[in-house]
Amino acid sequence: MRNEFFLEVSCLTVAFPKVDGKPGEMTKVLNGLNLTIPENQFVCVLGPSGCGKTTLLNCVAGFQKFDGDILFKGSPICGPAPERGVMFQEYGLFPWFNIQQNVEFGPRMKHMPRDKRREIADTYIDMVGLSAYRKQYPNHLSGGMKQRVSLARVLANEPEFLLMDEPFAALDEQTRQKLQTELLNVWEKNKITCMFITHSISEAVFLADRVIVLMPNPGRVALDMLIDVPRMRDRNDPALLQYQEQISEVLFSGRK
Ligand SMILES: Nc1ncnc2c1ncn2[C@@H]1O[C@H](COP(=O)(O)OP(=O)(O)OP(=O)(O)O)[C@@H](O)[C@H]1O
Ligand SMILES: [Mg+2]
Repeated sequence: MRNEFFLEVSCLTVAFPKVDGKPGEMTKVLNGLNLTIPENQFVCVLGPSGCGKTTLLNCVAGFQKFDGDILFKGSPICGPAPERGVMFQEYGLFPWFNIQQNVEFGPRMKHMPRDKRREIADTYIDMVGLSAYRKQYPNHLSGGMKQRVSLARVLANEPEFLLMDEPFAALDEQTRQKLQTELLNVWEKNKITCMFITHSISEAVFLADRVIVLMPNPGRVALDMLIDVPRMRDRNDPALLQYQEQISEVLFSGRK
C-alpha cells in the first residue's frame, strides 16, 4: 500500500542573516511551511527566484538547518542519506574521475561488487546517451552532457526519493524533452518519489502529478494543484495548456 505520509513537512521555518541588516538581524526565507508528499508522487515546485525553493530542497536533503519538523517515512531528517538522492543546478561531478567512475561512485560507496556496479553504471550512462564517453573526464564534456552524467549518477544510487533542483535548465530543448521522458520512465519503473524544482511551467505540467507554487517574503505555498491528465502525456494536450494558464496567473499575480 502506498505511504500517504512519505514526506511530512510541518511548520518549516528558515531564517538567514539579512543582507545589509544589522549584525544578528535575520530574514525568514520560509515561514511555517506545511507540505505532505505521498509515496511515488511526482511533485514540481515553481516560484520566482529567491522564494526559497532550493532552501526547501536543501532542508529535505538534510543539508540545511531549520526550525519545524521534517519526517521522512516517519523519521526525522537529521542529515543527508543515500535514500534521498539530490541533483543540483550545478553538475557536482568529480573532475578527477571519468564518467564511468563518477556514475559508479554511489554504488561503490555502498560496497557493491564491481560487476554489479559496472552494470548499473552502464545502464544509466546508456540511458542518458553517453555510452561513447564513458572514459572521458568531465572537463571534456559540454554543460548539457555534464548534466546528463549528473542524472545518471543520481539514478545509479537508486534513491527512493529524488530531489532535483532545476536539473534540465541548461539543456537544449531536444535533450531536455528526451531526459524528461527517461526520468518519467525511471520514476514509474522504480516507484520513486520526486521533488523537482523548475522555472518552466510547461516542464512542470508535463512531468508532475502535482504542482506547488511558492511565493516569496516569506516563502509560502501559493498554489497546490493536482495535474489530472493521464500518462503518457501529449505535450500539446489542451488540458495541460489550461493548467499552465492557471499556474501563470498565480506566478504573475505577485509581480504586478
Ligand atoms: N546560505 C545562505 N545565506 C544567506 N542567505 C541565503 C542563503 N541561502 C539562500 N539565501 C537567501 O534565501 C533566499 C532564497 O534562496 P533560494 O536559493 O532558496 O531561492 P530559490 O527559490 O531557489 O531561487 P532561484 O529560483 O533563483 O534558484 C534568497 O533571498 C537567498 O539570498
Ligand atoms: Mg534555487
